[in-house]
Amino acid sequence: MAARSNEVGEQPFARTLLDTPVVLFRQPSGAVVAMLDRCPHRFAPLSAGKVSEGRIKCGYHGLEFDALGQCVHNPFSRAIPGKARVPTFATFEQDKAIWIWLGTAGPDSTDSIARLPHHMDPQLRCLFGYTLTKADYRLVGDNLMDLSHTMMLHPAFGGMDYVPKFSYSEEPDGTMICDYRIAEMPHPSAPAGTVISHWDRMRWNAPGTFRLESRSTLTGSSEPDFVLISAHILTPETSSTSHYFWSSAVHKDDSLSDGDHMAMLVQAFDHEDKPMLEAVHRRMGANLDLLALDPILLPMDAGSIRLRRKLQALIARESNTN
Ligand code: FES
Ligand SMILES: [Fe+2]
Repeated sequence: MAARSNEVGEQPFARTLLDTPVVLFRQPSGAVVAMLDRCPHRFAPLSAGKVSEGRIKCGYHGLEFDALGQCVHNPFSRAIPGKARVPTFATFEQDKAIWIWLGTAGPDSTDSIARLPHHMDPQLRCLFGYTLTKADYRLVGDNLMDLSHTMMLHPAFGGMDYVPKFSYSEEPDGTMICDYRIAEMPHPSAPAGTVISHWDRMRWNAPGTFRLESRSTLTGSSEPDFVLISAHILTPETSSTSHYFWSSAVHKDDSLSDGDHMAMLVQAFDHEDKPMLEAVHRRMGANLDLLALDPILLPMDAGSIRLRRKLQALIARESNTN
């Protein structure tokens, strides 16, 4: 994922993705263009320029490039130098998100992009956020595949009462699923004595889309009284920093206000997960290959370890075909 749809308009939007500076902007038709954020003349960031009629004009000497990255105007001469071309990248917009392919040979179809229907469901109130984490994206992925850290890190999500039974499964399409079930726990925010059962189901799709469904059911009731659907999407910014795009939705009539909902998410992602992941990254030092550091493995590490192995296999396969 390169950006949320509403981050990109007709003027340049700059973001580094996979160590590559990228500029994104929209054509008058609304189609998103993504290109290397570096002018082929003297390497100015094109994002410092302006877009007019879907063409980006470099802010340094005024060369203009069209949506295909071809220079179409040279203010100093009628001739367009042969090298005046900027690499562009394939983009695809779906579910209020802009997806990008930074490699050379792209996938045959966009079917592998996991869908995020909660972003558009009129029955839900969905909030969107973003957290830049100064850690390897795989560490952020470990955190998402292992919700057992809730016990220590997230008091508002149950804290020490979050002691789930963990199970792992995989669907035929490769979706990896981590399930966390708690038969009885105190309701985190209701009056003392209110007991719930709780179920978290995290689903991962390569390379970095995590979808979580959380359900709490009051003891004695058959219907969940609280359902939260969220997405957590990771894209490396660099080899040591990660874009973490998140969204979280509750039923439109839920008593949780948008203000309280947002405060809860910011507290968990920005003030609890992020500092811990950044500290882990610093402690690992130069060696970011977790398994080479011979860590202790606990049962609930099953999901994150399989995810890492799967990523490794996908990267190896892609490196062989490109
Ligand atoms: S650096 Fe872009 S036109 Fe000169
Ligand atoms: Fe967390």
